[in-house]
Amino acid sequence: NRKVIIDTDPGLDDAVAILFGLASDRFKVLGLTTVAGNIGLARTTANAGGLLAAMGRSDIPVVAGASGPLRRKTIDAAEIHGNDGLGGVTLPAAAPLLSDDAVDWMAETLLSEPSGSIDILALGPLTNVAQLIETHPQAASRIGHLIVMGGAIVEKGNAGPTSEFNFAADPEATALVLASGVRTTLIPLDVTRRIRADRDYVEGLRGTVAGDTAAALLTAYVQDEKTSRPLHDPCVMVLALAPELFGVDSYRLSVNVSDDTDAGGLIQDEAGSPVSVAMRVDAAGVLALLAEGLR
Ligand code: BDR
Ligand code: CA
Repeated sequence: NRKVIIDTDPGLDDAVAILFGLASDRFKVLGLTTVAGNIGLARTTANAGGLLAAMGRSDIPVVAGASGPLRRKTIDAAEIHGNDGLGGVTLPAAAPLLSDDAVDWMAETLLSEPSGSIDILALGPLTNVAQLIETHPQAASRIGHLIVMGGAIVEKGNAGPTSEFNFAADPEATALVLASGVRTTLIPLDVTRRIRADRDYVEGLRGTVAGDTAAALLTAYVQDEKTSRPLHDPCVMVLALAPELFGVDSYRLSVNVSDDTDAGGLIQDEAGSPVSVAMRVDAAGVLALLAEGLR
């Protein structure tokens, strides 16, 4: 099984991704590192701890990281995820924090295991990962695979005209990570918008603690019988386990780091960094694997 650190801002779809990761014996989750994103850092950290408690896995550390982007004002997505980040769903109280220095903790963890044996699954703004690369380059060079939910290539954005929320929340961190040379695969909105949960799908998850908790969270997210909503972050977990469900293309990308309304948008650019991007997906296969893992 794959050793992973999940860097996250739960967040309803983050929460489902984490539950899937904890429910699957094909992952060894070494820790959850938290970042401000969908909601502020105190909430994302408490939510991460609550998910571990719900799963009886409070032995896994939660380590808090950045409370805001490298160089900008913090934005959030409370209108989608609620003021608590979890759509009002209550989880058990979390165990006390191990420490609040996610970047140092990631570095120590990467240095204590064989090089290349740990993947980082990045489900939120890339602030922590960028700081890791900047301040602990040797540790960062030991990352096996960095899989990132973020960006939009052909699809329109969900934060600005072409910018996606995670990248818009910290454009400078995104630029630093993409230029770093760390082996990275992006999963942009082009793929995640095709992985959709509706009420029937959500009801079909029930039957285990992970499935019941995911169903409660997704009921808050899907809202009514007629809508379906994208499962962005769970795609990262699935790509780590079943890359054959995705088609990956190479792009050269740079990041809009201006102050305009599309900051964080990706620009296809010959002078940009080479990045692998998941652009095609077997949507039915991804949804089936997620449901199977959760229940
Ligand atoms: C991303 O932004 C967040 O709101 C979601 O959790 C996901 O990581 C989608 O753009
Ligand atoms: Ca997220």
